[in-house]
Amino acid sequence: MSTQFEPGAPTAKGIIPLCVPEIQGNEWKYIRECLDTNWVSSVGPFVDRFEQELAAYVGTKHAVAAVNGTAALHIALLVAGVQPNDEVLVSTLSFISPANAIRYVGAWPVFVDAEPTYWQMDPQKVVDFLDKECQWRSGAFYNKTTGRRVKAILPVHILGHPCDMDPIVEIARKYELPVIEDASESLGAKYKGRMVGHLGDIACFSFNGNKIITTGGGGMIVTDNQAWTERAKYLTTQAKDDPLEYVHNEIGYNYRLTNIQAALGCAQLERLEEYIETKRRTAALYTELLSDVDGIEPMTEAPWALSVFWLFTILVDASRFGTDSRGLMARLADKGIQTRPLWHPILSLRPFLECHSLGEDIANRLYGDALSIPSSVGLTRDELQTVASAIQQVASS
Ligand SMILES: Cc1ncc(COP(=O)(O)O)c(C=O)c1O
Repeated sequence: MSTQFEPGAPTAKGIIPLCVPEIQGNEWKYIRECLDTNWVSSVGPFVDRFEQELAAYVGTKHAVAAVNGTAALHIALLVAGVQPNDEVLVSTLSFISPANAIRYVGAWPVFVDAEPTYWQMDPQKVVDFLDKECQWRSGAFYNKTTGRRVKAILPVHILGHPCDMDPIVEIARKYELPVIEDASESLGAKYKGRMVGHLGDIACFSFNGNKIITTGGGGMIVTDNQAWTERAKYLTTQAKDDPLEYVHNEIGYNYRLTNIQAALGCAQLERLEEYIETKRRTAALYTELLSDVDGIEPMTEAPWALSVFWLFTILVDASRFGTDSRGLMARLADKGIQTRPLWHPILSLRPFLECHSLGEDIANRLYGDALSIPSSVGLTRDELQTVASAIQQVASS
C-alpha cells in the first residue's frame, strides 16, 4: 500500500509536506525531446549527458547511471570485489538500502554506530575494530570474532552531511579495503572543501522522489577507476558479451536508467546549486527559530563540512520539551505538518539480528529522539515559520 511518505507522493492540499520534488526548470522540455525523438529507453543522449555532467560536478573521471540508488550500491559492491560471506562495515544509522545491497551480494554488514555530534559513522569505532579486532591471515583480513573476511567500508553520508572521512580512508588504505561512499542523501555536500562522492574509491547517489534532485527513480555510480566503470556498465546492462547474438557470459542485471529519467536528471542538475542554497537558508532559519525552544536541539554542521541539509532534523528531549518526538509528530500532524522519525536502527531489524555490530547506543538514542521536519526546496518562508511556531506552541502548551 502506498503511504503519504512514499518518495515523491503528492501531498494533500493544506499539508506542509516533509520533502517533495521541485520541478520548475527544463524538465518538460527535455522529456518532450525524448518523446519526440523516440529515445525513451535505457540508451539515449540524456543518459550519456547526465553521466558526464554528474561526474563533472562531483569531480570523478567516470559515472554510470543506474535504475536507482540501491541498484547502484549493489553494483558498486560487486565491482569493488565484495563476495559472498565477506563483511562490509556500514553505518547503523541509515536508510536500509546499503545493508540490503550488502546482503544482495551474499555478504554481511558489520554495523558501526553513529558519533553523537553530527550523527554520521563513528570513525573511531572503525579504527578500533580494524586495528584491534581483525587480523591478517593468508593475505586476507579477517574479523577475529566472526571469522569472516572484512572486504570494504561503506560510510553513509546521512541527511546531507558528510562523514568524517579522513580517518576512515586512512585506515582503509592501511588494510587495503575499498571505501564505497553512500552519498544518496548528500549530493553537493563537501568534506574539507572536497566533494562528497569523491572521497573514497567509488560512490553512489540516489535520485528518488525525495532526494535533493530527482529523476523519479534513479541512481548513479561515480569513480575514477576505469576498469570498475566498464564492469559497472557491463553488469547494469545484462552482462552482454555479444549484443547481437545474445551472448551473456555472466549473470547481469537490468539496472540502466532510462533516457526519460536521465532527461529529468539533466534538468534538475541545472538547478542543484540553487537548491543547495535554499536548503542551507532553510536550515539557518530553522536553527534561528528553534534554538531557544527548551528541549529542542537542531542538527548542526561540522566546521569541516558543507552540509546540504537534505532533511532538517531536530532532537526532542522529552523531559525538557514536555512531550517526546512521537508526541510532537502527532501534534504537528494534527496541524497538517508532515514530519518523520529517523530510521529504525538496522541491526535490530529481523534480517540483520545476527550481524556483528560496533556499538548501538547513539543510533538507538537518535532513533528515539530525532524528528525530520519539512525541508522541501519549495518550502516558503511562511510555511517554515508556521512549522517553527507550531513547535513553539507545542512546547508552551
Ligand atoms: C542513504 C540511502 N542510501 C540509499 C538509498 C537508496 O536509493 P533508492 O531509493 O534510489 O534505491 C537511499 C534512499 O532512498 C538512502 O537514503
